[in-house]
Amino acid sequence: MTIIFSGMEAPEAAVHARILVTIMNYLAETQQEFRWEISMGPVEIKKNVYWVGAMDWNIRDFHGYSTPKGSTYNAYLVVDEKIALFDTVKKPFKNDLIGRISMIIDPGRIDYLVVNHVEMDHSGAVPDIVELVGPEKVVCSPMGKKALMDHYNRADWPYHVVETGQTLKLGKKTVSFLETRMVHWPDSMMSYIPEDKLLLSSDGFGQHWATSERFDDEVDASELFNHAAKYYANILLLYSPLIQKLIAKIVDMGIDIDMIAPDHGLIWRKDPGAIIKAYQKWSRQESGRKALVVYDTMWQATEKMACAVGEGLKEGGLDFKMFNLKFNHRSDIMTEVLDSKALVLGSATINNGMMPAMADLLSYMKGLRPAGKVGAAFGSYGWSGEAVKLISEAMRDMNINLVGDGVRVKYSPKKGDLDRCVELGRQVARAALLEQ
Ligand code: FEO
Repeated sequence: MTIIFSGMEAPEAAVHARILVTIMNYLAETQQEFRWEISMGPVEIKKNVYWVGAMDWNIRDFHGYSTPKGSTYNAYLVVDEKIALFDTVKKPFKNDLIGRISMIIDPGRIDYLVVNHVEMDHSGAVPDIVELVGPEKVVCSPMGKKALMDHYNRADWPYHVVETGQTLKLGKKTVSFLETRMVHWPDSMMSYIPEDKLLLSSDGFGQHWATSERFDDEVDASELFNHAAKYYANILLLYSPLIQKLIAKIVDMGIDIDMIAPDHGLIWRKDPGAIIKAYQKWSRQESGRKALVVYDTMWQATEKMACAVGEGLKEGGLDFKMFNLKFNHRSDIMTEVLDSKALVLGSATINNGMMPAMADLLSYMKGLRPAGKVGAAFGSYGWSGEAVKLISEAMRDMNINLVGDGVRVKYSPKKGDLDRCVELGRQVARAALLEQ
């Protein structure tokens, strides 16, 4: 095969040829399918700082979180006297990463591999990159080294452990590290390049949204913040107290930020302060005059009750949204929980318990620890009727302020039963408004 690099001077063509050979050799050696999307090259986000990650257009479930518009695994290459790669990508996307790096430099020139986070959506390609590149340092937090050992069992890698405040000189640019334990795993850290006012924020400030655009100002702001809110509600909500401390620490340290580049989704360059403010609000778990009625129904009796509860909520002064669990994903409901003050949950009784979808939601919600909510339960039953009691217990376990014992209706609700549901809605609305 002959490839002609037209319109180039000989030295430039030689560089391109070398890069192409590196890619082809790597693919031949590893017998990998060449699935890198040639139409989308690396993107320079700051001078000599490049996005070199991968788009995952097809992922639809991210450990229980629905991702109807896919995700991205962002990695960043900083080219200075020393060349550093910040994070990698999920393993099946390693060729996308290598391909994009190869459009900038020979990957063999990478000196430092910085592992900000060990979860496999970012570290899956680390073993291949270490093998290909042979970096001088694999930079990680103390917990990061432990996690890398636990995942990949490679004591021979050239670990360089950094703690908060430690720096690494690249040349004109410096990297300062900030450990961010539990945002999202114990190993997590962020990297800050003061010369560029650039925060490489790992999982923080991310969104699961695959786009060909790379920056916040290139997409619809409302959709972007919806994705960011869903990400916060489903990935970070339980760490809200830590996130409050982290943001306070960033402010205390006087870190000057004009760009936040997360490991998922769009890069915040237009107004990075806006997403920081949103995180402050979400981490305080501030809610609006809003209620959710979430239910699963067997023969529509519980659904009729849900409609009556909604009527009462509205009469009581709360706007509400209704979610039938047969048609709505748990992770979309969690997004709505983020700014809702009241949760009214309903289920028919089945086999002495609640409907499976309600049990799924409660288990998922409990793990994410929503705070400061009021709520109640309702549901129809035939003979035993345990669902309302079980839902109420689960809500109490989550420290949700329960309004009464809930409403149970035998078989199909009559006029008086529906009146009790309307009254339940009014009571929940009163309690919610009193707490605001
Ligand atoms: Fe995107 Fe916690 O990994």
